Parts: sequence; C-alpha cells; structure tokens
Amino acid sequence: MDVIERLESNVRRYCRMFPVTFATAEGCHLFDDSGNRYLDFFSGAGALNYGHNNPHLRSKLIEYIQGAGVVHGLDMTTTAKIRLLERFESVILKPRGLDYKVQFTGPTGTDAVESALRLARKVTNRNKVLSFTNAFHGMTLGSRTVSDNALERLRTPSDAPSRGDSSSCSPAEGSAVTMPFDGHVGEGVDGIDCIDRWLTDKGGDVDAPAATIIETVQAEGGVHVASYEWLRRLEALCRKYGMLLIVDDVQVGCGRTGPFFSFEPAGIYPDLVCLSKSLSGYGLPLAFTLIRRELDQWWPGEHSGTFRGNNVAFVTAAAALDYWQDDGLCREVQRKGRVLGSALESLVRRFPNVLVSVRGQGLIQGLECASTSMADRIRTAAFERGLIVETAGPGNEVLKLLPPLVIENAELTDGLKIIEEAVAEATGNRGANEQGGQGS
Ligand SMILES: Cc1ncc(COP(=O)(O)O)c(C=O)c1O
Repeated sequence: MDVIERLESNVRRYCRMFPVTFATAEGCHLFDDSGNRYLDFFSGAGALNYGHNNPHLRSKLIEYIQGAGVVHGLDMTTTAKIRLLERFESVILKPRGLDYKVQFTGPTGTDAVESALRLARKVTNRNKVLSFTNAFHGMTLGSRTVSDNALERLRTPSDAPSRGDSSSCSPAEGSAVTMPFDGHVGEGVDGIDCIDRWLTDKGGDVDAPAATIIETVQAEGGVHVASYEWLRRLEALCRKYGMLLIVDDVQVGCGRTGPFFSFEPAGIYPDLVCLSKSLSGYGLPLAFTLIRRELDQWWPGEHSGTFRGNNVAFVTAAAALDYWQDDGLCREVQRKGRVLGSALESLVRRFPNVLVSVRGQGLIQGLECASTSMADRIRTAAFERGLIVETAGPGNEVLKLLPPLVIENAELTDGLKIIEEAVAEATGNRGANEQGGQGS
C-alpha cells in the first residue's frame, strides 16, 4: 500500500475504514488480495443494488464490447441509447403513469442534482431552493449549497488539520434555505408548517423559492425516513407556492426501498427526479434527471458534459430493467427489509445502553448507536469478521446497512450474525457463537 500513502490524496476515506487491498468481487462478496472474503453490506454506497459483477449484466456488457459497440458517444444517438430509453419507457415510466423526459447529465449523482437545480431556477425564474436538515446531495458547488453544512462540518474528524477551515470552503450562502426534515425537531414542531409560515411572512410568492429538494429517505444524513403523509403535504406546499418538487433518488431509488422510485408509495408526482448510483446496475457511472414534459425548457446544448454518453452503462442499465418487469424484486426487498429491521430491533432491545434505535425502509436500514465511538467499534469489529458496513449521520453514529437487493436469505442471516457478534464485542459482552478471525 506504499503507493497509496505516497501518491493518493489525503482526502481518501473508505480505504481507511476498510484497510485491505480488494482484488475481485462477485455477488454480495468482495475478496482481498490474500483471498479473504467480505460480505458487502455497503454495495458501493448504493451503486451495486444488483450485486458485484451481476452475471446477467456482465454477459450483456461483454457481448456489447466484443461487438465493438460505441463506448463514448457524447449525446449522439446510438443503438444502446435507443434501447435504454425504450426499455425505461415501457418498463418504468408507462406502467407508473409517469410522463417524464430523460436528461442524460454528466455521469454522477451530483451532476443530476446540478442540472435539476439549474433547470428549476430557469423555469421558475426564481433563485432560492429549499433543502432540509441532514440532507446530502453531492459535492459540486450547487449540490453542496443544498446539503446540510452541519453534516459536512460534523463529519470532519476532530483531529483533521483542516477542521474549522471547512466552512470557509462552503458554497456561497443565500441561494438555499435549510428547513427541518420530517421529525427533525420532535413532536409538535412540523417542518411543513415552518416553511408555510416562513413563506407567508415573506409576503406570498414574491420571494418564493424555485424548488424544494428532498431525499425521501436521507441516507448519508443517518437514515431518516420521511412519512408518506409528510411527503404529500410537502408536495401540496410546493403547488401552493409554485415551487418545483425535486426528489433526489440518487441513493434510495432503483429499488433500494422496494419500489423502483422511493416516492411511489407516497403517491406524489415530483417535477424533477435525480437518479444515478444503481441506475447502470453494474457500478458504471450513469445519471438521469427526469423532467416533467412541460418543464423541459432547455435550449439545445444549454447544459452539457463530455461524459453524458457512457454507452456501456446504457447497456447494463437496460439489462438491469429486466429485474423490474414485475413486482417480484420490490416485494422481496420489502420482505428482506422487514427481516433486517426486526433483527436489528431485537438487538436494540438486547443492548439498550449502546444501541438507540432502528430506522429504515426496505434494504436501507440504520442502526443508531449511543455514540460515534460505539458505531466505530461495531463497524471495525464487523470488518474483522468479514462484513463491510459503513457509518452515516452527522456524527457518524449510525451504522448504515445497504446489502445488495439480490442478497440470498442465508447471506442476510450471515451478515446479521456478524453484526450481533460485533455489537457484543464492542460492548465487551462477547457473543456465545463468536468465531473471530478476519474473512472466511
Ligand atoms: C442522495 C444523494 N444525492 C446525490 C449524491 C451524489 O452522488 P455522487 O457521489 O455520485 O455525485 C449522493 C451520494 O451519496 C446521494 O446520496
């Protein structure tokens, strides 16, 4: 690892949590260069919903590359793009009665967010955007403006040399307003009422924001779930003040909570939707901004980018939609989510001094720990037993569990057993079945 220390920027993060050299990956497992196996409850931060090197997607990819298919296409028309759009329309949009146009943005989640913010401002001719406490929307300037600064500040390690400088690098304030997410303040204080009151005080729609951007389940922010009722009220508020509703489904879309779009069960119809991460299904960069037809007011070329035509990602994305031809995957995710959630609930009951609560939907589940150090100890103990799981939340106090959606029951049970053992070890109460050792 000398070359990493010597050459890779200090900014690297995940390699510090999981300090081995990974070599191969298959399904729900990663393997290091010594052949140790790790069960992956991280899934590339949600970019690998269908597992590593999914065989169905891999065979389509190999076939395409061997046939000398176009790899890089800017926004030119290719057969791979046509196939993806046709599949997306017939498998995802039409059955859900959604009339979106698809904007191929630059290839990452933050690119989709940037284009949604920019389009919302253009269409409404307004500037401000409402965002929420503990929100995370990406690392480019506009996305950081609508992410919760406190999250960034608090997640900077206390011994980091640049702590305190981080706010001086924050994007210009004034174009975004942070409001309390559902449940943030506690019983009796409601974010929607706060926004309504604030907008009324400002004198109606004169100062009204261009848009509201929301994650239905805040992932990086520590797995906070907005209720369907709250989302419906947010939508109504947007309509009342002429704000566009942007759902950032970058991390919890593509089936992470069960349905393809996380907002489906709430019955809302966002104006703009950001998708990325598991959209390609294979870990290849790809992002969409979905735009309600009447809002597609871009001029040709007004928003561009060199890597909008990642055709190999189009191929795997089209193949991944084969999982969505019926509701089988959705129901499985919801079932496995219940198994995971109730196992974690029983851990909270067993270890009430160190575990606080369980939050989640489908296969994004958060185990809130009493402290950052406890969450760290559990994550480390889990890794030593061959489980990869990350921490999230403003203080990194929440273990965020994101297993691949295609995980087998037995693998889910294995992961849960490791978490149980890791909690027991972290609390000094070693579990009866503990085996120890790294990997398997
Ligand atoms: C909800 C959400 N939006 C946007 C992003 C940014 O995506 P990317 O890192 O691909 O730019 C993330 C990344 O974690 C995210 O969770």
